[in-house]
Amino acid sequence: MNSASVPRSRNRLLVIVIAAIASTGGLLFGFDTGVISGAIPYFQQRFGIGNDWVELITTAGLMGAVLGALTCGRIADVIGRKKVILGAALVFIVGALWSGFAPDAGMLIAARFFLGIAIGVSSFAVPLYIAEISPARIRGILVSLFQLLITIGIMVSYFSDLAFALPEGAPGYAECWRPMFSVGVIPALIMFTGMLFLPETPRWLISRGREAECRSVLARVEDPALIEDEIATMKGEIALDRGNRVRWRDVFQRWLRTPLIIAVGIMFVQQFTGINTIIYYSPKIFLMSGFEGARAAILASISVGVVNVLFTILALFLVDRIGRRRLYFAGVGGMVIALLALGSCFAFQAVLGDAVKQLTVALVLVYCACFSLSLGPLGWVIISEVFPLRIRGTGASIGSLSCWLFNAVVAFTFFKIVRALTMPGSEIVIRGENLGNPAGAFWLYALVGLAGLVWGYFFIPETQGKSLERIEEHWRNGMSPRHL
Ligand code: BGC
Repeated sequence: MNSASVPRSRNRLLVIVIAAIASTGGLLFGFDTGVISGAIPYFQQRFGIGNDWVELITTAGLMGAVLGALTCGRIADVIGRKKVILGAALVFIVGALWSGFAPDAGMLIAARFFLGIAIGVSSFAVPLYIAEISPARIRGILVSLFQLLITIGIMVSYFSDLAFALPEGAPGYAECWRPMFSVGVIPALIMFTGMLFLPETPRWLISRGREAECRSVLARVEDPALIEDEIATMKGEIALDRGNRVRWRDVFQRWLRTPLIIAVGIMFVQQFTGINTIIYYSPKIFLMSGFEGARAAILASISVGVVNVLFTILALFLVDRIGRRRLYFAGVGGMVIALLALGSCFAFQAVLGDAVKQLTVALVLVYCACFSLSLGPLGWVIISEVFPLRIRGTGASIGSLSCWLFNAVVAFTFFKIVRALTMPGSEIVIRGENLGNPAGAFWLYALVGLAGLVWGYFFIPETQGKSLERIEEHWRNGMSPRHL
């Protein structure tokens, strides 16, 4: 055994531990956004509330995420990445318990808002932590795995919802949503405990002048031969950052308008084609298609979670092979077709009869597969690529903030749009409640998808295999995204 192999294998182990703990950050993010879907029909019954309240409770979490994402960048710079993630884990713990024990709908809104803050914080701080602490050669993979873990978190939440879901009439039926929320405390405790043992990131330590500590962390994670280079590079980058202090308004300079439109635009298409109406409300949608009982509807939603994970894995392989533009047009094109067909299914429910159930599940799955192949990962990949290095952090956070905001608008308006666009005579009534008909809403999302295809023709850049410098040069020369 040569002398270098000892630290290398030790490094590898630590990196795996880091990846595993950071994974719980992604898992929690996905879990706590997905968990609401199975819980909705039950807490609706418990509190005797309609869909307007459901929208409020779902949106509260997203607004919390907006707040978390907005404020945590600055806090992470001041107190460090590790403390911010530990803080988020505590909020996850308290938020999960609070949601599970909420005595009324108002309290559930407050609890979800509080929990949402942790979701927003972790959507920003966890990838940052991973990027800053992992050795250069595996950084890219670890960061893109984060998206995959979000989808795994959503899937796990669906399975967990199913485990607690009770059949109608069973004792405790109206209370079984409580453990669905509370069980989120387990991954949060794992993340909290794990994080206690992980170091602060070398990059943050050096930015605070704590070079000795930085060196000792690097010695644990990085190849010993690369440590000095790494320190020199970090010092150079930090000096550059200080010299070019970025203000928000810098992002709005004329030549940066194109990347800004791309980042906000792709998040607009990602959210307004309605993915989260499926992620949060699929059991409700399946109930409208004729499934009997909340448990059966959750069971159908599990297929959504599984497809989402599988096609995200496929996308990770494809994104660097067949390129962004092709993936975008194929995926969004497929989503538009699926949405048109889904709308038609509900519009002709009276003619199609019982087949609507199977058709709805099949079309929702096609739609999700197309999303996971394209807009899901592409949204995040593109916002991390289009901005020049100096404003990449600020630019990317504008992208993710738009994502949360648009997400909140869609979650808040879905049932309202369903009602507003219901053709007279096509209303779906379940247990005396008139739910409207979602055909019009799905067609509306299809229309956004169509507009997204036209917009994408002009604005989606082919960033595959292009250096950041080349991309920056392209904007500086005032050239259009489609000619990149
Ligand atoms: C989106 C989320 C969505 C998730 C579904 C992400 O790319 O930003 O809003 O819930 O994909 O997998």
